[in-house]
Amino acid sequence: MTTLELGVLVSGNGTNLQAILDAIQRGALDARVRLVISNRADAFAIERARRAGVAVRVLPHREYASREAFDEAMIAALREASVEWIVLAGFMRLLTPRFLRAFPGRVLNIHPSLLPDFPGTHAIRDALEHGATVTGCTVHFVDDGVDTGPIIAQRRVPVLPGDDEASLAERIHRAEHELYVEVLADIAAGRVEPPPVPEG
Ligand code: GRF
Repeated sequence: MTTLELGVLVSGNGTNLQAILDAIQRGALDARVRLVISNRADAFAIERARRAGVAVRVLPHREYASREAFDEAMIAALREASVEWIVLAGFMRLLTPRFLRAFPGRVLNIHPSLLPDFPGTHAIRDALEHGATVTGCTVHFVDDGVDTGPIIAQRRVPVLPGDDEASLAERIHRAEHELYVEVLADIAAGRVEPPPVPEG
């Protein structure tokens, strides 16, 4: 068992961050959230981090000349905070190869569909519009693509008659909160195979 030193990247509500903080608090996850980074000053996730006594940096991406410059600022902040694992939790920016090389095989994301179905930012709406009867959520390693990296774990969630985007999202989010914590606990326990790291 190792204590995971986490950096959590957020842009919004932060319910997945909350689930991770709660799991640590109740002893279900051997991890420390060393730093939360938000690219938006109005993200409610910031409030959640502060309430838990976790360090927060707000790095507005528009203040940087390029995606690389923004990612360099994040890398510096994360290294300064001794972060070893990066947890994307509703972070709405794409990471550059430079960032991924800084934390090789140690960047995780959660996505609200059963990938490779419904990648992108409207996964829940897309599943409904497609008439899916089952959808779910996926935790995966992040690679250079959009929602394409090696899958670690998935949880199925039924689409129920009469579901709208809000009701389905609520059910998926509950599954996400359990799945993210389970995967992190598996990583801490050495039960997750690291992904192949591209050369170069
Ligand atoms: C989640 O649905 C996650 O799958 C997606 O963004 C959403 C973040 O929700 N990547 P929250 O900010 O953790 O509440």
